[in-house]
Amino acid sequence: MTSVNKKTVEDIQVSGKRVLARCDFNVPIADGAISDDKRIRESVKTIKYLMDNGARVILCSHMGRPKGEFNMKYSLAPVAKRLSELLGTEVIMAADVIGEDAKAKAAALKDGQVMLLENVRFHKEEEKNDPAFAKELASLAEIFVNDAFGTAHRAHASTAGVADYLPAVCGYLIQKEISIMGGALNDPKRPFVAILGGAKVSDKIGVITNLIDKVDTLIIGGGMAYTFMKSLGHNIGDSLLEADKVELAGSIMKKAEEKGVKFLIPQDNRIGDKYDANCAFRTVDSDDIPEGWMGLDIGERTEKLFADAVKGAGTVVWNGPMGVTEFPNFEHGTIAVAQAVADSGAISIIGGGDSAAAVEKLGFADKMTHISTGGGASLEFLEGLALPGIECLNDK
Ligand code: 3PG
Repeated sequence: MTSVNKKTVEDIQVSGKRVLARCDFNVPIADGAISDDKRIRESVKTIKYLMDNGARVILCSHMGRPKGEFNMKYSLAPVAKRLSELLGTEVIMAADVIGEDAKAKAAALKDGQVMLLENVRFHKEEEKNDPAFAKELASLAEIFVNDAFGTAHRAHASTAGVADYLPAVCGYLIQKEISIMGGALNDPKRPFVAILGGAKVSDKIGVITNLIDKVDTLIIGGGMAYTFMKSLGHNIGDSLLEADKVELAGSIMKKAEEKGVKFLIPQDNRIGDKYDANCAFRTVDSDDIPEGWMGLDIGERTEKLFADAVKGAGTVVWNGPMGVTEFPNFEHGTIAVAQAVADSGAISIIGGGDSAAAVEKLGFADKMTHISTGGGASLEFLEGLALPGIECLNDK
């Protein structure tokens, strides 16, 4: 489990110092425009703190997966523009990462000024956590601040390697993510309910295994629920199945029973005759999905079952949608669960990625206690794994 006991920006003197601040500015871009700026907005608190306290701020991030080559399709320039608007001051954009332009602009920074390096993944050494590259990057600054929670599960040069060469502390976003999610895992307000969805059992095995020891109720929806139904001998038709995980699904349910954890899987499902937004659809019981049909969402009876389980919860952790939310006919279950979580009054934590996107899209974002900025990172955190981007930071 990742330690929360790390030094923060408030534990270090930043005035007049060049500070390399790693953020996760890996935001979705459509037609050159940022379509969701949550990760940028969530970085502002730390950046403002550094500016207000007289630091010379050198921001860095990755964007997408440019495979180690300069490719302006993955440039961070749109982020510099958005960030300038949010900060109300110019964010100076460097043309490279450790090149002449970055070095000159970093050297010329005045107290309180802020610049952004180009995409660190334009260098293949970044993802390899190459020590020489990390050292070169670190040489731009005197202090390292990691606030990139979304990338904290990656041991890359800019997320972990640089900490070998600089005093290293976390920013407010990482601090918030680990204290809220860590609090829920270590000392949850009970009853503690976890809702897990998404396509594959194999993606969620680690989370299920970690949470089953902590929760009072475990709810399984989404594509992975069909593997659990199969283990009960149900006819699941052409629904998503991980045949090699059927036995495991059975043993998880057995373990839940032994531990007295309430384990809920769908009782009915909205099924479609093909994987298509415009397919024919109807609702059937979970043991009765005909051949040629596939489960694409939970049914109404299940919506009520899950909503009842959430009612009165002290803490709810939710990761993964209940159905195929990209298809309007199969987003109903996810909406119903989002509504139930919003109405529950529980501490509600939405693991990032698809479930966060669904909650935002469906308009429930401001009803939740915390929506993580991490996709893979929040999943690994919920699995109880140590995150290299946090482990590398200095202890208090
Ligand atoms: C994310 O979006 O999950 C993070 O920015 C990490 O991106 P990656 O999966 O390409 O490392």
